[in-house]
Amino acid sequence: MPTKIEVTNNRYRLGYHLMTPGGWMNDPNGFCYFQGYYHVFYQYYPYSAAWGPMHWGHARSKDLVSWETLPTALTPGDSEDEDGCFSGSAVVKDDKLFLIYTGHHYYGDNDPDHFWQNQNLAYSTDGIHFTKYAHNPIIAKAPVDNTQHFRDPKVWQADDHYYLVLGSQDQQGLGRVLLYRSDDLMDWTYLGPIAGAKDVQHEGFMWECPDLFNLNGQQVLLTSPQGIKATDKQYLNLFQTGYFIGQLDYQQPQLQHRTDFQELDHGHDFYATQTVLTPDGRRVVLGWMAMWESQMPEQADGWAGALTLPRELTLKGHQLVMQPVREVAALRTQTLLNQQATVNGTADFGNNLEQAEFKASLDLTATQQLKSTISLMNASQQAVVSLTFDQATGDLVLHRADRPDARYAVTATDRDSLELDLFIDTSSIELFINGGTVVFTERFYDDTAKSLQLQTDQAVTVTAKLFALNGQA
Ligand code: FRU
Repeated sequence: MPTKIEVTNNRYRLGYHLMTPGGWMNDPNGFCYFQGYYHVFYQYYPYSAAWGPMHWGHARSKDLVSWETLPTALTPGDSEDEDGCFSGSAVVKDDKLFLIYTGHHYYGDNDPDHFWQNQNLAYSTDGIHFTKYAHNPIIAKAPVDNTQHFRDPKVWQADDHYYLVLGSQDQQGLGRVLLYRSDDLMDWTYLGPIAGAKDVQHEGFMWECPDLFNLNGQQVLLTSPQGIKATDKQYLNLFQTGYFIGQLDYQQPQLQHRTDFQELDHGHDFYATQTVLTPDGRRVVLGWMAMWESQMPEQADGWAGALTLPRELTLKGHQLVMQPVREVAALRTQTLLNQQATVNGTADFGNNLEQAEFKASLDLTATQQLKSTISLMNASQQAVVSLTFDQATGDLVLHRADRPDARYAVTATDRDSLELDLFIDTSSIELFINGGTVVFTERFYDDTAKSLQLQTDQAVTVTAKLFALNGQA
């Protein structure tokens, strides 16, 4: 047995985000609620801080904010998952927890693109120890009009059936999502593709990590397409995560009247989401707080990757809104600041910020064409991450000191205020703007003391609160 890699330096370790105890992490998997705990699994390689044969790491939480790491749930190497236990999901049936995941298989010719994939089942009665189903795979082969891209099952229950969606690619090289149905989680019937890319440029060549759920009587298909061509201000990451809204007709089967693809988060570090329905009926999403092309300097310290804060999803018209779940308020340990002031020029908030929440409202009723920038500053008074708002156009531009490429979004211009809710951790910042209608997720790598700075080009009334957050959550 190789030995697990250990963390050698804590400089970038996060305080209240889920990370591996050491080693690599990518996608969240198997997000579910079972026997009083939320469970989250994740793509995990325990033996190095780089991607390798995928395991499923595991953590659980009673409150969505403090996480307990559990033993590795799935280890690859059996005939059904020789080269990896790729992404998948979880469902509870008869008081057992079932995981459905993709088995990854190479043909052994050292060509990383020469592989095949199948779908497998594992189960647990205690939510800690998992047994792979003796008759795996449960879905052995992709449909005949598919390529080898056939992965990331997301399962749910509706009426008396179980359904799952799978990410895939058709023979024309277009991304799509396939629907399957089962009565027992073991025997699955293929129903057909429910949605597919119109063309690669706008909708991608492969749809990874699909998730399908109801919100306000409509269906949301959340997925991570690969291959969408960047425009000036959109689709700027290597791959994106976003959604379509429509009506799922299970008979056809087809996601009818679907909207165009919309990105869910505008930052550099957000991918491969997965949702859960909480016992009280909220739809909560987690994402991988990284992206395949991102530099991850924490690799030098024996680990890589983290998950975002859990965020509640709601629909506003045809737009998905994303806000930190209300449970995150329990992270607040101290109110560092609670003030109203007129800012005209520069104002500083806080110092030595490690884990903090900054909640501010800028009154726009008396300003015209305000330009304002909120920045996370380092000890040399350089901006590490900054967000600029232009009241005239609604443009939001995010700059990061270690990335040459900015990120963009637009917010409504008829608003009376600009609302900011920023969650700072040792090496991450999540920026929720105007009630979660715009979100940016970023990692940063500067271990000097941080503060916040607000700049405005005219007098503006600012109501601001700054909270210290629990760094051992
Ligand atoms: C998405 C993804 C999935 C796959 C997993 C492998 O980031 O590429 O499609 O199952 O990562 O780790």
